[in-house]
Amino acid sequence: MDEAEIAAAMAAVDQERQWSRLEAFGRLGAIAGNGVNRACLTPLDREARRLLIRWAEEAGAVASIDKANNLWLRRPGQNDTLAPVLTGSHMDTQPAGGRFDGMYGVLAGLELLSALADTKTVTQRPIEVVAWTNEEGSRFAPGCMGSMAWSGARAIESFAAITDHNGIRFDDALAEQMAAESDLPLRPLGYVPHAYVEAHIEQGPLLEAEGVEIGIVTGIQGSRWFNVIIKGESAHAGTTPLALRRDAMQGMVQAVTALNRLTEDPDDVLRFTVGRVSVLPNSSNSVASEVRFSIDLRHPDAAVLTARGDAVRPTILSAIRHVEAEVEESFTAAPAAFATDVISTIETVAESAGFSHLRLASGAFHDAQFVVPICPTGMIFIPSHKGISHNPAEYSSPEQLTAGTRVLVGTMLRLSSS
Ligand code: GLV
Ligand code: MN
Ligand code: MN
Repeated sequence: MDEAEIAAAMAAVDQERQWSRLEAFGRLGAIAGNGVNRACLTPLDREARRLLIRWAEEAGAVASIDKANNLWLRRPGQNDTLAPVLTGSHMDTQPAGGRFDGMYGVLAGLELLSALADTKTVTQRPIEVVAWTNEEGSRFAPGCMGSMAWSGARAIESFAAITDHNGIRFDDALAEQMAAESDLPLRPLGYVPHAYVEAHIEQGPLLEAEGVEIGIVTGIQGSRWFNVIIKGESAHAGTTPLALRRDAMQGMVQAVTALNRLTEDPDDVLRFTVGRVSVLPNSSNSVASEVRFSIDLRHPDAAVLTARGDAVRPTILSAIRHVEAEVEESFTAAPAAFATDVISTIETVAESAGFSHLRLASGAFHDAQFVVPICPTGMIFIPSHKGISHNPAEYSSPEQLTAGTRVLVGTMLRLSSS
């Protein structure tokens, strides 16, 4: 494919179409403040997926699903036996999420299909767009279940017994959605794409602060998630002397205080978050018998993440008094470095199209992290207003979306000819 054909397909990215589709997806699960709450494997998720399939089919793509419910949209290549070039992201959101996190990458893939259809572009390799299942990990923790299952990092069956806030099991929710989509062809989990490129909002403040249009992502920091259960004993809040209590809430405070010390970092690179807590019996005048909380720990350096992560359990066990603790690691994503070829292709496309660009690392995790061991992988970031994300106020402008999608189209087309 020559440069003129690539430029024509990039120019066919339709800003108005892409923005109106973003708004249409934003209505499915809309919450106050222009946000979205659309959990994975729900009726709203199914509605959004049907809408995606409709638009992708209009652009000539064929939909299928795998047993992890990842949704695939395939546009044939001139040589359809070659390994496809893959793009995509996720459609599920945080409970108080925005319209862009994940959805933008899927929309950019959809816009790629539409731009190729409009320009009748024939690619050497097939193009595939994927919407990965449960990236966020907010309904069923951990996240990236679809990409982990696809890449072989974890078996989909290993998530079966994980429950959501209402006690619904992951395997039941998955089976319900698979049944609702049983009209779609089933494809096997896993294959080796020629390359994977994911477009995403930055979710941080750097690109906006630097006034730069395109972020070329060099890699993703590592993450480790833990589930902690502190077990004490319920007692009367008015009558039970402190000395006799086995207070799970105090145990959690002792644990988190010690973890704050463990994760101190004068450079503010190590990230430590306790974002989810549940208490039993959850009554003002009863001593807590049980507290469950989550730990999200991140660092770009594998050695630091290993050392501090391995210290989480002993730190908790030595901090607590009069209670017991169970600590289970639920998610491990090693720091990932993207392929130099993909990075330089994105850079060439951004540069020759006249977009300002810089290289940066991702603080958020992404499905791309699990594709890294499978094929050459990269990511394209666009600016996030004030770096706000996992918040209804998440915002990138129609022009910023267009710039990112144009770079995605150029990158995918270059890769499809290589
Ligand atoms: C992804 O949503 C993350 O938490 O980084
Ligand atoms: Mn995301
Ligand atoms: Mn997210």
